[in-house]
Amino acid sequence: MAANPFSLEGKTVLVTGASSGIGRSTAVACSNMGATVVVNGRNEHKLAETLALMAPGSHVVVAGDLTGDVAALVAQMPKLDGIVHCAGIGHSKLCKQIEADDIDLVMGVNFKAPVLLQAELLKQRKVNKGASIVFVASLGYDYPNVANGVYCASKGAIVAYANCLKLELAQRLIRVNVISPGMVWTDLIVHGGMTEESLREDEQNSYLFHQYNQPEDIAYLAVYLLSDATVRMTGTNVHIAAGAKRL
Ligand SMILES: NC(=O)c1ccc[n+]([C@@H]2O[C@H](COP(=O)([O-])OP(=O)(O)OC[C@H]3O[C@@H](n4cnc5c(N)ncnc54)[C@H](OP(=O)(O)O)[C@@H]3O)[C@@H](O)[C@H]2O)c1
Repeated sequence: MAANPFSLEGKTVLVTGASSGIGRSTAVACSNMGATVVVNGRNEHKLAETLALMAPGSHVVVAGDLTGDVAALVAQMPKLDGIVHCAGIGHSKLCKQIEADDIDLVMGVNFKAPVLLQAELLKQRKVNKGASIVFVASLGYDYPNVANGVYCASKGAIVAYANCLKLELAQRLIRVNVISPGMVWTDLIVHGGMTEESLREDEQNSYLFHQYNQPEDIAYLAVYLLSDATVRMTGTNVHIAAGAKRL
């Protein structure tokens, strides 16, 4: 048995959404566990802030929009032992108000972008045998939320896609798992349309621990799924939500 199966020493890991919130925490946690981290986001200033928080290493910044020329971004990346598809956007609109542009926007970032990024990483042979792929979905795919139809559907779509991807990559011992967080204190919810007062009220009433998760809670789970501790774990969808109660 390895001395520390949770270590990421010797692994190179791509984290999208690394300029903020859960992705930033994941990049920092991966570096603390010994990984070389490739960080992606559009905001170069915020990516530099993430790098400053990370443990020293030969980390790589590949800044850019994942809805753009993803082939060019992938061409700049080294071969990978782990990928955390974390980039995403929130969206809040009642079902009767949804328009085509809402679907294009949310599905574009939350579904089309990670799917096409993953395809390009495979086409350009950037995914090593035995690698670990993690998608950050959302508990919303299964727990209903008013005014969250398109967002929840985008996360349900990525869960279904990950289920298929695991079949296609199993031959190379590449595992594919999903993390589905409940509410996490990040910009996505703080600037997501709910007042701080209503978020605090929801935190008290909808969670057994009366707490939302913090970004690092999700990051530590991502580290576990990237590590050799989970080499024979694929096709799971781990809910992490401080005891969220169903509506
Ligand atoms: N916070 C929650 O309660 C919660 C709950 C469940 C699931 N999630 C999921 O967790 C993931 C991370 O969210 P977060 O809460 O950490 O939000 P966040 O703080 O707003 O971070 C979102 C990240 O996505 C990146 N991003 C957005 N659009 C992009 C694009 N077109 N190209 C490249 N990068 C893009 C942003 O980078 P730039 O702005 O630099 O481009 C940023 O780094 C999302 O997939 C979200 O759906 C969040």
